[in-house]
Amino acid sequence: MRLQQKTALVTGAAQGIGASTARRFAQEGAQVVLTDVLESGAAVAQEIRDAGGHAEFYRADISKSAEVQALIHFTVERYGALHVICNVAGINIPGSVLDLDEAIWDRTFEVNVKSMFLTAKYGIPEIKKAGGGSIINTGSANSLVAEPLLSAYVASKGGILMLTKQMALDFAKDNIRVNCVCPGWVDTTINDAHHDLFGGRAVLEQMIEEVQPIGRVIRPEEIADVNLFLASDESSSMTGSAIVCDGGITAK
Ligand SMILES: NC(=O)c1ccc[n+]([C@@H]2O[C@H](COP(=O)([O-])OP(=O)(O)OC[C@H]3O[C@@H](n4cnc5c(N)ncnc54)[C@H](O)[C@@H]3O)[C@@H](O)[C@H]2O)c1
Repeated sequence: MRLQQKTALVTGAAQGIGASTARRFAQEGAQVVLTDVLESGAAVAQEIRDAGGHAEFYRADISKSAEVQALIHFTVERYGALHVICNVAGINIPGSVLDLDEAIWDRTFEVNVKSMFLTAKYGIPEIKKAGGGSIINTGSANSLVAEPLLSAYVASKGGILMLTKQMALDFAKDNIRVNCVCPGWVDTTINDAHHDLFGGRAVLEQMIEEVQPIGRVIRPEEIADVNLFLASDESSSMTGSAIVCDGGITAK
């Protein structure tokens, strides 16, 4: 029960890493608000409640200021405080700078980076009131190393890591830690378009050891465990860090 009496907000919680993180936080006693643009997040919250946990779903587009403000308001009204923000929501639309539409560049930065500015801007005053807490921003191995044909995504993930370090400096004195989780290839639907760049998933699986040295895809639950560590007091000495959970990709 590492998150007992803590309230956690998890974005992108309808599926993938976000849903696994919400489940894991609830198993450890947290009261969890799940948010996503997909209404199917409501079923994940219901599943958590059916298992005896505390969870609510609130639909929001986390790139929109008014929706994030309403989300934070809902969280504090429902559970009385906010201690943890786990920013998981993200999009990945491939393209070199020549191919990519300007609108996709802007949307990538709104969803992947501006959302973290917004949840911090409106969430940190509440975390301060609670006496401190933990913010976890989801970067990527692409926060550290680039990759062909992912111009907007790689740039956004690099920005997330530096925003994390910057926020860690500003809020250390408030007992608010800010860290960046950098996963490798995790088995979720965000990668469908990415797989096509390599000739399809089957081709990628054949060359898995070349792509990811552990020789397999990472399960969303494995990243949820890293998020749990960062949300809990077990990581109390860590702020401004990139926590690399990439199956060895960046070791090469
Ligand atoms: N899967 C991987 O291999 C991998 C690797 C490195 C980093 N990541 C990062 O992990 C995070 C989670 O991705 P995932 O793998 O679980 O993929 P996913 O596509 O299953 O989950 C992303 C979720 O974000 C939600 N979302 C998108 N735009 C939103 C918005 N504007 N407002 C609210 N919610 C929105 C989606 O609806 C979806 O539920 C992303 O930030 C991604 O970049 C994933």
